[in-house]
Amino acid sequence: MKAIQFDAYGEPAEVLALADRPVPEPGKGEVRIRVLASPVNPSDLLYVRGHYSGVEPRFPAPVGFEGVGIVDALGPGAHGVVVGQRVAAINGQGGNWAEYAVLPAGSSLPAPDGIPDEQVASFVVNPASAILMVRHVLAVPRGEWLLQSAAGSELGRMIIRLAKRDGIRTLNVVRRRESVAELEALGADAVIVSADGPIDEQVRDIAGREGVRYAIDPVVGQAGTEMFRALHEEGRMLVYGSLTGEPIRVGEDPRDILSGRRTLEVFWLGYWLPRLDDSGFYAAGAPAASQLAQDIEALMRDDVLVTSPGRTYALDEIGSAVAEAESAGRHGKVLLTAAS
Ligand SMILES: NC(=O)c1ccc[n+]([C@@H]2O[C@H](COP(=O)([O-])OP(=O)(O)OC[C@H]3O[C@@H](n4cnc5c(N)ncnc54)[C@H](OP(=O)(O)O)[C@@H]3O)[C@@H](O)[C@H]2O)c1
Repeated sequence: MKAIQFDAYGEPAEVLALADRPVPEPGKGEVRIRVLASPVNPSDLLYVRGHYSGVEPRFPAPVGFEGVGIVDALGPGAHGVVVGQRVAAINGQGGNWAEYAVLPAGSSLPAPDGIPDEQVASFVVNPASAILMVRHVLAVPRGEWLLQSAAGSELGRMIIRLAKRDGIRTLNVVRRRESVAELEALGADAVIVSADGPIDEQVRDIAGREGVRYAIDPVVGQAGTEMFRALHEEGRMLVYGSLTGEPIRVGEDPRDILSGRRTLEVFWLGYWLPRLDDSGFYAAGAPAASQLAQDIEALMRDDVLVTSPGRTYALDEIGSAVAEAESAGRHGKVLLTAAS
């Protein structure tokens, strides 16, 4: 089969290559899927660059954490899905950028009927992160401001729509002025451009001098530093990405430290998913993961947690696919497909 792999960490366009590999056999408790489509997510590219500490590659390493496929074979003891079923496939070790992939049966969720492949391809990573960050980890109350950066990202757009649904006001930071009108049309309550002046000052002009109680930031660097300064004295900020790859600085100004009890906390979906049953986020009695999947399905059907489809590339166009995925102002999620 055709599969994308890499032999060493590096720039994705340089180190990712198409290889001929044996079709993998599912082991105990595993399923094999015929991959229909897999998104190019920021986490895939962080992993290839060696900036994703959650998973260690074994070179030559397969790539692609998320996707949609058809169950093609079951390993011994695999249950929960049947051959021929369409599933959302979370491949924790990578490997969905291929014609076939093997993953634990429990990581393949039956795809809800009537939801198109391009939405099922992005069923888990961004939708689950939106729900968990807003409703459970921060548990932002109705009427509060939620400050977020990279608001034009696919996840940022989901958060704008989810917040609107939940009666939360969003204060959105973007780097390009062209994003402002688009996000306002989506339901953003306020949109600021990072280049227009320190984010904390812009935020206090809108949300009040005390600052905001809730913030989420995947940009870090200067933007994250200024967002932390925009927090209310009891504010909490989740850092959930590293789009600039730069450090966030807390305490450059000593007044940031010697006042209040602001909290900076990491959010990583890979931490929460295996701990959902013990998290207290969902009612006891039914597995928390299926309650989360039901929430995602309902919010996807209501056009809240939907992904804008972007360009689709074949596996042998991997260089163009990863370049497109990181181009500024890109529209929609780039998908890789094995189908010719
Ligand atoms: N921690 C977790 O578990 C978790 C889970 C899901 C996602 N994430 C993170 O969430 C973020 C968004 O994911 P996504 O799939 O929605 O991404 P996406 O659709 O590819 O969007 C990326 C966005 O980031 C912006 N951006 C890129 N580089 C930037 C920079 N240097 N400074 C400011 N903005 C920059 C882009 O702005 P333009 O629109 O101006 O091009 C774009 O809007 C990523 O960082 C991803 O790693 C984390």
